[in-house]
Amino acid sequence: PKEGEENLRSPICCIMGHVDTGKTKLLDCIRGTNVQEGEAGGITQQIGATYFPAENIRERTRELKADAILKVPGLLVIDTPGHESFTNLRSRGSSLCDLAILVVDIMHGLEPQTIESLNLLRMRDTEFIVALNKVDRLYGWKTCKNAPIVKAMKQQTKDVKNEFERRLTEIITEFKMQGLNTELYYKNKEMGETYSIVPTSAISGEGIPDLLLLLVNWAQKTMVEKLTYVDDVQCTVLEVKVIEGHGTTIDVVLVNGVLHEGDQIVVCGLQAIMLFLFLLFQGPIVTTIRALLTPHPMKELRVKGTYVHHKEIKAAQGIKITAQGLEHAIAGTALHVIGPDDDIEAIKDQAMED
Ligand code: GTP
Ligand code: MG
Ligand code: NA
Repeated sequence: PKEGEENLRSPICCIMGHVDTGKTKLLDCIRGTNVQEGEAGGITQQIGATYFPAENIRERTRELKADAILKVPGLLVIDTPGHESFTNLRSRGSSLCDLAILVVDIMHGLEPQTIESLNLLRMRDTEFIVALNKVDRLYGWKTCKNAPIVKAMKQQTKDVKNEFERRLTEIITEFKMQGLNTELYYKNKEMGETYSIVPTSAISGEGIPDLLLLLVNWAQKTMVEKLTYVDDVQCTVLEVKVIEGHGTTIDVVLVNGVLHEGDQIVVCGLQAIMLFLFLLFQGPIVTTIRALLTPHPMKELRVKGTYVHHKEIKAAQGIKITAQGLEHAIAGTALHVIGPDDDIEAIKDQAMED
């Protein structure tokens, strides 16, 4: 960056909420993909990651006259499962992110995992925006494909507007009962104290421009320090999986720093030992990055597809790493890079402390 310009990395945004509120479908709508329909039972069971380059965000928010105000290279969105049995994955997702989208189904209001997600975010002081999703299900809703929400609302009949207001008021009250002030984002004059609500539809795209713009603006405006790029590698293992043609791979989120092909890395692992008993214990895995892969921009990391090979990748990004010996790597732990002057033993110890 030129002198005086901020060197910002992409904000990492986690999408959370109760099962089937439309988290994955919202991302599908932005990506132009069909990930949700490919999920077993329509249920997300892993953490996902998708990179949205600034150009795509600019394009998608054009109608809101948001040209040229994007200072971040893009947005990295982490998809999480809403099913009650995946609290650990929601916790992992929320621990990685700079900010979050909390998705609420307008027809259902606050549900158990909405409240659980809310509490995870509050525990970490993570700012979030509420997406009040499925507005297209309001009886008589007139579709305004991908329109900003104010424009879409103007097209609705009095009855639809009334039903919307009634449900919105109820949900604001439910949030209040959780100790949280919320307000429609375009009426919210005190962002930070009052959480913003963006009505959306993941099916017809109303409110998506608003959601994207609000996220990026909010991040750029309030998180400059947090988002200022630093060289120290900060990287977390999301998933460990076998991919045909690549062997065991790890999906990671690189929060800061750069990874290179050939870097020597240490991750926390489980080791098996045959003694008189069969024992499993945690031990560091030291290995070398064989390949650094990402899905194409706007594609989901957790979905098998074609990968882009990189010599090096700068944060923030969701990455698939192939290397020897990753079979027993433990998801949720940190990945460390061994630099030329580093003491391997010290880094091994550090890796096992996570
Ligand atoms: P989990 O990841 O399993 O927690 O669910 P999710 O929150 O990702 O929801 P998902 O995207 O799987 O959507 C659940 C169902 O709601 C699917 O059948 C979607 O087609 C439907 N759906 C999602 N968003 C909308 C929406 O805005 N409008 C309507 N009408 N249906 C929606
Ligand atoms: Mg999902
Ligand atoms: Na689902």
